Formats: sequence, structure tokens, C-alpha cells
Amino acid sequence: MVNFHLKALKSGLWLIWLCGFALILISFYATTQIMPPSIKEQIKNLTGSEGPSITIFAAARPFSGSIGKRQSLAIRSWLGLSQDIRVVLFSQDPSVFSFAGSFGLDSRVTAEPNIDFTFLGTPFFHSMVARAQISSSNISVLMDSETILLPDFISTLSYVNKLDHDWLLVASSRNISAFPCLLDVCGKHWLGDNGERIKLEKLQDYLSHGLRERCDDKKMIMAWNNGDVPLHNGVLPPFLYGKGFHTRWVINEALSSNFRFVFDASWTISGFFIHNLDDDDDDDNDATIWENVGNSHLGALYGSLIFHEGGYSDLIKLFKCNGRYHFASTTNNIVYPFGLSKHRKLTSCFDKIKTLDGNVTCSKENRVMSSEPLALPFSLELLLSKMADQNKTIVLAVAGYSYKDMLMSWVCRLHVLHVLNFVVYALDDEIYDFCVLQGLPVYRDRLAPSNISYNDCHFGTNCFQRVTKVKSRVVLEILKLGYNVLMSDVDVYWFKNPLPLLTVFGPAVFVAQSDEYKITGPINLPRRLNSGFYYAHSDGATIAALQKVVKHASLSNLSEQPSFYDTLCGLNGSNRLGDDMCLEPETNLTVRFLDRNLFPNGAYRDLWDSTNVSSKCIELGCFVLHNNWISGRQKKLERQVASGLWEYDMSTRMCLLSWQRSKQITDY
Ligand SMILES: *[C@@H]1O[C@H](CO)[C@@H](O)[C@H](O)[C@H]1NC(C)=O
Ligand SMILES: *[C@@H]1O[C@H](CO)[C@@H](O)[C@H](O)[C@H]1NC(C)=O
Ligand SMILES: *[C@@H]1O[C@H](CO)[C@@H](O)[C@H](O)[C@H]1NC(C)=O
Ligand SMILES: *[C@@H]1O[C@H](CO)[C@@H](O)[C@H](O)[C@H]1NC(C)=O
Ligand SMILES: *[C@@H]1O[C@H](CO)[C@@H](O)[C@H](O)[C@H]1NC(C)=O
Ligand SMILES: *[C@@H]1O[C@H](CO)[C@@H](O)[C@H](O)[C@H]1NC(C)=O
Ligand SMILES: *[C@@H]1O[C@H](CO)[C@@H](O)[C@H](O)[C@H]1NC(C)=O
Ligand SMILES: *[C@@H]1O[C@H](CO)[C@@H](O)[C@H](O)[C@H]1NC(C)=O
Ligand SMILES: *[C@@H]1O[C@H](CO)[C@@H](O)[C@H](O)[C@H]1NC(C)=O
Ligand SMILES: *[C@@H]1O[C@H](CO)[C@@H](O)[C@H](O)[C@H]1NC(C)=O
Repeated sequence: MVNFHLKALKSGLWLIWLCGFALILISFYATTQIMPPSIKEQIKNLTGSEGPSITIFAAARPFSGSIGKRQSLAIRSWLGLSQDIRVVLFSQDPSVFSFAGSFGLDSRVTAEPNIDFTFLGTPFFHSMVARAQISSSNISVLMDSETILLPDFISTLSYVNKLDHDWLLVASSRNISAFPCLLDVCGKHWLGDNGERIKLEKLQDYLSHGLRERCDDKKMIMAWNNGDVPLHNGVLPPFLYGKGFHTRWVINEALSSNFRFVFDASWTISGFFIHNLDDDDDDDNDATIWENVGNSHLGALYGSLIFHEGGYSDLIKLFKCNGRYHFASTTNNIVYPFGLSKHRKLTSCFDKIKTLDGNVTCSKENRVMSSEPLALPFSLELLLSKMADQNKTIVLAVAGYSYKDMLMSWVCRLHVLHVLNFVVYALDDEIYDFCVLQGLPVYRDRLAPSNISYNDCHFGTNCFQRVTKVKSRVVLEILKLGYNVLMSDVDVYWFKNPLPLLTVFGPAVFVAQSDEYKITGPINLPRRLNSGFYYAHSDGATIAALQKVVKHASLSNLSEQPSFYDTLCGLNGSNRLGDDMCLEPETNLTVRFLDRNLFPNGAYRDLWDSTNVSSKCIELGCFVLHNNWISGRQKKLERQVASGLWEYDMSTRMCLLSWQRSKQITDY
């Protein structure tokens, strides 16, 4: 008994001891938190750290013509500011990679293709921000690839990097028609006509005559310190980088989330771009039309949020007077902090800057955004010619809205495999809009079933027939236009690209997955043809046979899958040839059933029950694995996500890519 008490006492003492220790730690932590900035600065100086490391992220356009020259000048101006600056260019274009490569092996410039792009090559803003946010540098900057920076950019960032609070800044840039100076070879100094160096003040003075670009979000510089606090509380919609108001959206969210100190540094950062009148501005190319359509639709969805009150014109301003930085509010004319001895002097300095600069508002800020249905300028023919590979082959996915996440995971997987010749056929308006916003090559036509009510569309109904029989009709339509089709359901996970293997079968051969579940025996038994994964070559025999399938399906009460088998292999398999083929006698079309070790269905070898589905399939040599033989959409989804054969982040609407998985960032 006594012993027990003693023990309890002892442990109690331990507890007090521990708590005391914790308290000491907490108070130590507290003192560091409220330490005056001057002491913090001294500590920084003692540790010998130099300026903050900065990574500038920019979406680069191809390096050709005047755009290439302007980008090259801008990027050289960034690199000349400080050795602490690195540059990451988002692009899939080879010219951008060779530009980055031209800086040598140990380069401060890299090109990254691993973010989300539309099929026309426009990057997604939310994907760019996500990449910039996991940067290993002290400060991330997102800006336009043609905006030139002057040294006050570095001094501003060095100053704000010392703030006690996490921050996010924006700065507008100026639009000028000519710049009378040249950047010297090292990219450090600007030279005048006769080769003399031009002082920063003189350059700033020249720029002050240029107009501030206030409406174009792309031309706004955005920078933040990579602290622990996120930029905002919201989920960034899939804005396309370029047209629209993505930057304003972030500012608004950041302001209302109140995580960070948000301010406007336009008065202390000289960013400018050169507008060339005889430029062939690409205002009417396909990508631009896409940006306008997609972003104005998102604008309609998020409009009320974006355009609340003054927007970013009400932001606190950073300004510089007599060589020192200060903050002030333009809306109520307050200079921070209060009670400064030279307060009056500062206020007049601030007023002077304000008057010189005029009002920073965008007259288009309240423009009405379109809520019209999305319409893209692509006919099926145009889309096919844009997307097909050199063999004139198209990978086709047919999907409705309830399969949108499956579709995206499938698309993201194809991106990883560098399979870009795919097209999505939208079964309903919702998935069509969704695909447009996700930048997918999508189309929808008169074949799509109308009046689908999901509650009412069960097996045997008229609606069910219309939905399930669209796929073969769409394939037939594409074959007739002269393109080969690999039809892949979106619940087929691709391990590697099957096209090189499938294309070698040549004309008049229809190659399909077998749905046979028994491990041994023939794989071409009745109704064992899976119409969720097949390759159809564009030729007379295949088109004639597909026409028969479509006709058969239109008269059948079943889904279209049995029609494929019964038409091509004969009722009861009367056209079977050996254990893995059929020959349709009227059209002479050969059907080849694919080796199930390479193209397993969802029942074969219970692969989906393996502890590691992926390694099991790789062992077998799988090209694809079908997530079928399971009933219920939800179960199917769960099984696939749980197995790790999943490539899409449903919450952020972005592909999961290697950099998100490994968290190993090498930009700094
Ligand atoms: C820290 O170093 C910078 C330059 O290296 C200097 O300008 C600044 O005054 C120093 N700060 C303190 C508190 O010593
Ligand atoms: C930059 O980040 C590194 C690592 O996170 C940190 O040690 C260093 O103090 C930071 N430097 C500045 C100037 O903020
Ligand atoms: C720059 O200004 C010119 C004329 O002043 C205008 O035509 C052009 O659209 C502007 N550029 C941008 C990107 O705002
Ligand atoms: C600037 O804004 C103020 C108040 O918001 C307004 O009264 C003034 O007319 C504006 N000036 C210009 C040039 O737009
Ligand atoms: C769709 O529904 C509308 C109204 O219910 C009807 O008028 C129309 O004929 C239907 N269309 C088809 C193709 O069933
Ligand atoms: C194009 O077809 C040839 C055979 O006809 C094949 O070797 C090649 O891999 C195919 N290319 C692609 C990208 O599928
Ligand atoms: C389709 O179903 C209807 C009614 O359920 C039936 O009368 C008809 O015979 C069926 N047709 C076929 C081809 O099975
Ligand atoms: C299909 O084959 C089975 C047995 O092999 C036979 O009982 C059935 O009558 C056949 N049906 C047709 C339509 O040939
Ligand atoms: C199919 O092949 C047979 C024998 O090779 C031939 O007689 C027949 O004309 C062919 N049919 C078609 C539609 O090509
Ligand atoms: C499954 O196997 C793959 C490939 O061998 C491996 O990369 C992965 O880490 C494994 N997953 C689990 C959960 O063990």
C-alpha cells in the first residue's frame, strides 16, 4: 500500500517536472515570437544567412519570334538581379527546354512539364500555384514570362521577408511601348545609347510614364513567403492561366481567409512589359478562345465572390520614403504604424506617391461574365485531326458525369504515359462542361442520348438502351472518318501504353479484351468479349462488321456487349476459331481475344484482391487492368482508390504527379 503511494507520488513528481520543463519551453517559444524585429534581424545576421532564396515560376510560351525575344530579355533581367534567384518555366514545348538547357548543366533555369495543361498546351493556374507552394525556396513568385524586373524587386522582397507575419503580395506591372535601354551581357545593368549605365531612379522615372496594367491578371506579379500558413482557405477552381481573374480570386480568398498579411507592392516593385504594336497578338487562336470560354464560365460560377467591393484596389500599400519602407491604406489614408514621430512627413510623402500613381482600379472589374452553356469551336473532324497520332489512331473514352473522377484519373494516367491522342465523348451536358473546364479534348453530338434520368434509367428500359448503345455508334462514326479507335472504358487502368502492341494486328482484325474468368480453357467462349476495351482498325471489313453490331444492338433488349459477341463470333460461338479467335464469315473480320496476363479483366486471378495489385500486375506483365466484375459505381471507385491505381486528386481537381507524391523538390 505504502509502496503504491510512493510510486504514485513519484510519478506525480515526474509529471510536475515534465510540465515545468514544458512551461519553460513554451515561455522560451513565446519570447522568440514576440521578440522585437531588430533582435530577430541580428540573429539572422549572426547565422550568416544572406538574402532570401527566391524561385520565380512562369508559364513560358514557345521561344520563337518576338515573343521568344521578349521572354529571353525578361528572364535575363530576373537572373541578373541576384544569385539567389532561380527560375522554373512551365511548358511542354521543346523550345523552352532548349532555352533552359542553354544556361548549362548547373543552371538556375529549369523547365518543368509536370503540371496540368489543357490539350492545347495552356497551363492550369491552380496547378502552377500548387507547384509553387511546395517550393523549397524562402519566397515563391508567380509572374508573366515577359515582365521585366528592376533591382527594386530584390530590395522589396528582402525587406518583406523580414516581416514577422506570413505574407502575400501582388504588384501590377506597366505597359510600355518601347524601352530605350539595353541589358548588358551579364544581365546586371541597363545601358543607354552610348553604352553608359543608367541609374535605377532614371529607369523608374521613365517607367512612370507607362500605364499600369490593371485588368490583366496574367500581368500581375504574385509573391509569398513559404511559411507554414497556406495562402487561403479555399479550393482554387481550375482556372486556365492567362485570361480571366485568377490572381484576383486568390487575393480575395487570401483576404477573407485572413491567414496572411496581404498587400500591394506595386509602388516598390518596377515590373514592366513592352507592348509591341506590330505584334501578331494571338487573340483569336484556339487556346485563347478556350481560355475565354472556360474562365468566363468559372467567372459566372464564382463571380459574386470575385467582384465583391473594391477588390484589390483596397489593399494595403507598401511604399518607400527616404529609403525606408512603410505601409499605408489608401482607402482611409492611414500610414502605419501610428505614433511615429515623423508621421506627418510620411503622410505627405504617401499622398504625393498616391497622386502621381492615380487610382488603381480596373474599369472592366465589374464586367458581366458569361453563364451561357460552354461551346467550343471544334467539330469532331477538327478534334480528331488535332489529336490523332501519326498512325491516325484515337483513344476514345465515353463518359457521363457520374464517372467524372474515374475519367480524370484515367486521363491523368494517360498523361503520365505520354499518351496524348485521346478524345472524350460526353454522354451528358454536365460531363461536357466539366471536361471543358478541365481542358480535355471533348465533344458531344446528336448521338448522345437526351432525356437521361439516372433514377429511371435501369436495365431493360428504353433509356438504358440508348445510353449503353452510344459507344459502338461513336466508334463507328470515327472509323468512318478514317481513324482507328482504341475504345477504353475509364475504369480500365493503364500500366503501359498498349498501342504499339495493338496496332501491329493490321486491317480486318478486331482486337478485344476477354471477359473469361476461368484461369484455364478457351478465352473466346460465348459472351466472353468485353466491349469495354477493344481496338478497331479503320477499314471496310471492320466498318461493315461494326455496322452489324450497331444494328444488332439497336434491336436487342440487352446492353451492347452481347451484341458484339453474338454478331462477330456467332450465337453460341459458331464463328469461333481455335481458343482465342473468331472469324465473322460475311465481312471476313477476324476477332482476336487478348492474352489475359497482359490484358486481365477484373475477375481474372482475383487480381483486385492482391495485397499489392500494382506489383502483382507488373509481375504478370499487364498493359491494362479492367476494374470490372464488381457491382456498384461507389464500390468500384473505392476499390481503385484503395489499390493506389489512382492518379487524380478529387479535392484540388489536379492530377497527382511525381512531384506531389515524392515531395522531393529540386527548384532550390
Ligand atoms: C544585417 O545585415 C544587413 C546587410 O548584411 C545590414 O544591412 C543590416 O543592418 C544588418 N542588421 C542588423 C540588425 O545588424
Ligand atoms: C531561407 O530558408 C532556409 C531554410 O528554410 C532558412 O534556414 C533561412 O534562414 C531562410 N533565409 C532567409 C533569408 O529567410
Ligand atoms: C498595352 O497597351 C496597348 C496600347 O496602349 C494596348 O493595346 C495593349 O492591349 C496593352 N497590353 C496589355 C497586355 O494590356
Ligand atoms: C479616384 O478615386 C476617387 C475615389 O475613389 C474618385 O473620386 C476619383 O474620381 C478617381 N479618380 C480617377 C482619375 O479615376
Ligand atoms: C425529351 O423530353 C421532352 C419533354 O419531356 C420530350 O418532349 C422529348 O420528345 C424527349 N426527347 C426524346 C429524344 O426522348
Ligand atoms: C504505328 O503503327 C506501327 C505499325 O503499323 C507500330 O509499329 C507503331 O508502334 C505505331 N505507333 C504508335 C504510336 O502506336
Ligand atoms: C425485349 O423485351 C420485350 C419485353 O420485355 C419482349 O417482348 C421482347 O421479346 C424482348 N426482345 C428480345 C429481342 O429479347
Ligand atoms: C447452343 O449450344 C448449346 C449446348 O452446346 C445447345 O444446348 C443450344 O441449343 C445451342 N443454341 C443455339 C442457338 O445454337
Ligand atoms: C471473304 O473471304 C472469302 C474467302 O477468302 C472470299 O471469297 C469473300 O469474297 C470474302 N468476303 C468479303 C466480304 O470480302
Ligand atoms: C506495390 O508495389 C509497387 C511496385 O512494385 C511499389 O512501388 C509500391 O510501393 C507497393 N505498394 C505498397 C502499398 O506496398
